[in-house]
Parts: sequence; structure tokens; C-alpha cells
Amino acid sequence: MSTMEKTTGICRVQRSKAQAQANYTRISPLYDLFGAFEEKYRIEGLQVLNAREGERILEVGFGTGHAILTLAKAVGEKGEVYGIDISEGMCSTTWHRIRKAGLTKRVKLRCGDAAQLPYKGNKFDALFMSFTLDLIDTPEIPMVLGECLRVLRKGGRICVVAMSKRGKSGFMTRLYEILHEMMPTFIDCRPIYAAQSLKDAGFLVTEHRDISIWGLGGEIVLAQKPK
Ligand SMILES: C[S@@+](CC[C@H](N)C(=O)[O-])C[C@H]1O[C@@H](n2cnc3c(N)ncnc32)[C@H](O)[C@@H]1O
Repeated sequence: MSTMEKTTGICRVQRSKAQAQANYTRISPLYDLFGAFEEKYRIEGLQVLNAREGERILEVGFGTGHAILTLAKAVGEKGEVYGIDISEGMCSTTWHRIRKAGLTKRVKLRCGDAAQLPYKGNKFDALFMSFTLDLIDTPEIPMVLGECLRVLRKGGRICVVAMSKRGKSGFMTRLYEILHEMMPTFIDCRPIYAAQSLKDAGFLVTEHRDISIWGLGGEIVLAQKPK
């Protein structure tokens, strides 16, 4: 039976957070082999975010840590990069990457849930989230973005890269949604409305790109916390 909600047109995420934690930990050693299809769009998202020297930046759902590494180089010695991910396997894979690069002094990782960020308000200059908002279940998207808004300083920016229901790739997107519904534990992300979710959460959208991710719809959105 379809889990697509009539009101939102978005499929629900049926696996639990405990399953997400276990699955991402199980696949963390091999994630880069099949997660590589996300790389190009993650890099474009990082360019849109445009991290600057001295900034304090948080990545939510950092996976194997490629963006954490890029951000840590961009913020320089005076900057700080924080990351939170629900999977212990992803946390240790990323920590290994950061240690190898000799950047542990400017990176702080936590294993935890995006819906309850363990940081004080107005702490960050910028936030990054790639292919993570689209695997948060629909009722929790406003909670996660509410937390992002809380921890971002006024005028701070957030960049979200996500699969999207917008755009022209209707057939491929519907096919993907069917696979998501057939294998909810393994294909846990699904197309959402990223820019609209950011607006609904109180962000001001400053840049919005519709992208095609191997034939599937996607969005790269840059938004700001109102001053
Ligand atoms: C599809 S991967 C994307 C990883 C990375 N951002 C990238 O672009 O390659 C999603 C990541 O989000 C993490 N995740 C899933 N649910 C989460 C939650 N509720 N809170 C924090 N992290 C979560 C997973 O453990 C996984 O590492």
C-alpha cells in the first residue's frame, strides 16, 4: 500500500531511527562505493554554501565525512567544524578521515539525532545538510529544521541538498518512490520539497537550484535565518 500522503504528496519513511542507526553503521565501511553518486551534488552544495575562514559550521548527517573534511579545510585554523550523525559507524569512519588529514583540532563530531541538536542557540555561522533531510520522516522535517533555525545565528545560512518532487523527472521520481516503498529499510530517502520546507520553518530562501540527479529531481537550496 502506498505511504504517499494525500496532503503533502510525499512518501513516509517507514524504517525506525534504530534501523537507520544500525543500517548506516553496517554499510559505513562500503558506503563510498555506492554513495559516490551523491558526490557531484554534495560538492555543488558546498560551493553554494561557500564556507569562509574563521566560521563555525555544523553538518547534520555527515556520513563518511567528505564534506566535513572540505569544510574543515575551508574554515582554516581559526574556524571550527561540528558534525552530528545518528550512526556510530559513520562517526568512526569520519573521525578516521579527519585524523588522517591532521585536522582533529578544528573538528568536533557527535553521534546523535538531528531532531534534538545538542548545541546552544545561535552557535553556528552556517549549516550544511546533504541527502539527509530527505530521509527524515515527514512529521519530523519541521522539528529538524526548527532545530537548525535555533542553533544558527541570526543572518546565518543553511544549504540543503536533497532529492525533490519538483522538476520535470516525474516518471523516474515515481519509480524511485515505488522502490522506496518496497524496500523502506534500504532505500530510506525519498523526494521532498526542500525549499518549501525551509520557508515553512521560518528561513528566507536566497538561492534555489533545481537539479537532475541521474534523472531524478533534486534541489540545492541556500537559505538564511532572518536577522
Ligand atoms: C544518505 S547519508 C548522506 C551522507 C552525507 N551527507 C553525504 O552527502 O554523503 C545520510 C546520513 O544521515 C545520517 N542520519 C540518518 N538519520 C539521521 C538523524 N535522524 N540524525 C542524524 N543523522 C542521521 C545517516 O547515518 C547517514 O550517515
